[in-house]
Amino acid sequence: MYITVDEKNQIFSLHSKNSSYILKIAEERYPIHLHFGKRVDDIGETESLYFPQGAPLMALDENKFAAEAVASELPLYGHPDMRTPSLHISYPDGSTVTELRFVGSHIYKGKNMLPGLPAVYAENENEAETLELEFFDSLFGTSVILSYTVFYEYDAFTRNMYVKNCGAKPFDIKAAASMSVDLFGDDYDIVHLDGAWGRERHITRNRIVSGFQGIDSKRGASSHNHNPFLAVVSHNAGEEDGEAYGFSLVYSGNFLASAELDQQNFVRVSLGINPFDFNWLLMPGESFCTPETVLVYSDGGIGKMSRIYHRLYRERLCRGKFRDELRPVLINNWQATYFDFNEEKILGIAQNAKKLGLDMVVLDDGWFGCRNNDSTSLGDWKEDKTKLPGGLERLAKQINEIGMKFGLWFEPEMVSEKSKIYKAHPDWCLHTPGRSKSTGRNQLILDFSRNEVCDYIENCITDILKRAPISYIKWDMNRNMTEICSAALPPSRQRETAHRYILGVYKTMEHIIEKFPNLLIESCSAGGGRFDPGMLYYSPQIWTSDDTDSAERLFIQYGTSIVYPASCICAHVSAVPNHQVKRITPLKMRGDVAMAGQLGYELDLSTLDSEQLEQMRAQVEEYKKIQHIVTFGDMYRIKSPFERNSAAFQFVTGDKRETVLIYSNIMRHANDAAENVRMRGLINDAVYENVENGCRYLGARLMNIGFNFKNTSDFQSRVMKFRMVTNVDK
Ligand code: DGJ
Repeated sequence: MYITVDEKNQIFSLHSKNSSYILKIAEERYPIHLHFGKRVDDIGETESLYFPQGAPLMALDENKFAAEAVASELPLYGHPDMRTPSLHISYPDGSTVTELRFVGSHIYKGKNMLPGLPAVYAENENEAETLELEFFDSLFGTSVILSYTVFYEYDAFTRNMYVKNCGAKPFDIKAAASMSVDLFGDDYDIVHLDGAWGRERHITRNRIVSGFQGIDSKRGASSHNHNPFLAVVSHNAGEEDGEAYGFSLVYSGNFLASAELDQQNFVRVSLGINPFDFNWLLMPGESFCTPETVLVYSDGGIGKMSRIYHRLYRERLCRGKFRDELRPVLINNWQATYFDFNEEKILGIAQNAKKLGLDMVVLDDGWFGCRNNDSTSLGDWKEDKTKLPGGLERLAKQINEIGMKFGLWFEPEMVSEKSKIYKAHPDWCLHTPGRSKSTGRNQLILDFSRNEVCDYIENCITDILKRAPISYIKWDMNRNMTEICSAALPPSRQRETAHRYILGVYKTMEHIIEKFPNLLIESCSAGGGRFDPGMLYYSPQIWTSDDTDSAERLFIQYGTSIVYPASCICAHVSAVPNHQVKRITPLKMRGDVAMAGQLGYELDLSTLDSEQLEQMRAQVEEYKKIQHIVTFGDMYRIKSPFERNSAAFQFVTGDKRETVLIYSNIMRHANDAAENVRMRGLINDAVYENVENGCRYLGARLMNIGFNFKNTSDFQSRVMKFRMVTNVDK
């Protein structure tokens, strides 16, 4: 029993191993937030928490209840709570006031999945428990369910909301947040992950100030620019100390994540589908399900919050056989050949890669239609026989014969104007009649809100996967949405298009997974433009950024790791000068930085000399010895490139018997001091041996004294692996 109920006072307490989430129904109608934070088994009296004295605030009818002065779980527009509402409905009479009464609660073991949406799952019903609170407005028959699940061992909570039309007339949902919570206190910072193409998920941290602040996407994808995540952290919180509250939205489309500090010192945190340009017409009898938000509390700083997310997302969001398996170390031909390849070249890459110990060759963009540049053929998913005369079947089989797996790139959601499919179905793209069609990278977006479009793409991919032995696909998506309308929807439903599109993408990916359960999917969006928990439900790894420069990657991978585990952070060694920033970094650092994620290669091997090839072979061998620690271990961020001229990540296996430290400096300064690097997460009195040189250290020495690294040049990096050599029962 992770959820307890005080029936008399209508208090609902959800307890994970170390945290609690407690709420109460006041006056038979207001779901009041009482506590989210460190575990409290019995909250005792609660009035002192939600009824401030003497506030000159409006109360509703005969109630003395000042809705604006309490922490709400379900703020509604049109009543005396004048902060941001989580639900905003327009009714047939033109009104927008929803007045809900509490109907009852329902508690069940485990967790139900969300219809058509990705979500964290319980593998068995004992690891989670769910509370549903039901509310009803009789005027137009609006039924609302707030759903809360506690994952006991994982120390995480999930929330979402369902809206049902139980009335006789349709109504419009104008805004429906996945969750809203009011945290008390004004000494918080807000942390989020922002950037641009090639510079994704840099960390932004600001003091929360009075008023509304937040991030969003109106791009049709979660975006390079903002990630669907925010944390509220105590102003003094660091990597390993202080309080951190994480809120992560399991969604890949337009979102809004906000924090609003009000006059009563509550910070209202709200996440969900972006209400901007959104409307959902709900017919009588229909339900609308909002995406899920995952809430994490940490009393051990931002690092502990990240480790909770990492474990939960690695084990209970990612699915399929690759959730628990080591991923193939791959070589991708994109930065090696771009569009200029043929069967012979790809086979040459495979032969050389095999000698280096790599497991898989991925054929990227350019294998279909007549795609020799990015102006044509998206949507025509048939091999270009001038490049691949024997088709994908022959290429894939030949690669398999070399002893390697074969992977293939698709950009399923896009269409080129120069394509057979666009000619046949010009209305299959997102467009607004009478307006111009903006192109991005010369392409338009297929209207995935339409079933026939989803079916067409599903059939194209299925046909290829059935014909050729393909172990992996890279699901790319290279532009954001403009002129968002669907030729298949009536005017009253046009503002549903962007959400319906995402549902269509999820449905298509789900069908492919069902048909090909052994397929590994890596999602991608012009690098990391859709690096979100929604995508992780379908693809256990994501292409992190098109920027493969190792110095840049320190920032990108560090920021990404605030929420996402190394098991999903794909990182490739590429050529120098780097194609994105023209920087030259040593092969060692390029390899070491990529080893802090899922290592791969993306460069022309035929340009390397034998010494470099041998260095790469050794790199792949070294990675395979640490891959299980990086992929399944706990990550500690030891040095932040956002704070200094270096970065260090450490990974520790769950049993604390193996650990690996990956350190890189960026620029050297003249007469630089040595840098002290201390490890974390080990057992104090266990003895650890440096696997490379046999030196032995107490865990306490590694954690409390560490090493002093002296850097003698720019871009120096080190990978140090230790294993426990004493058997301590701790
Ligand atoms: C964008 C991706 O991020 C790249 O890795 C590559 O697949 C290109 N698209 C191909 O067009």
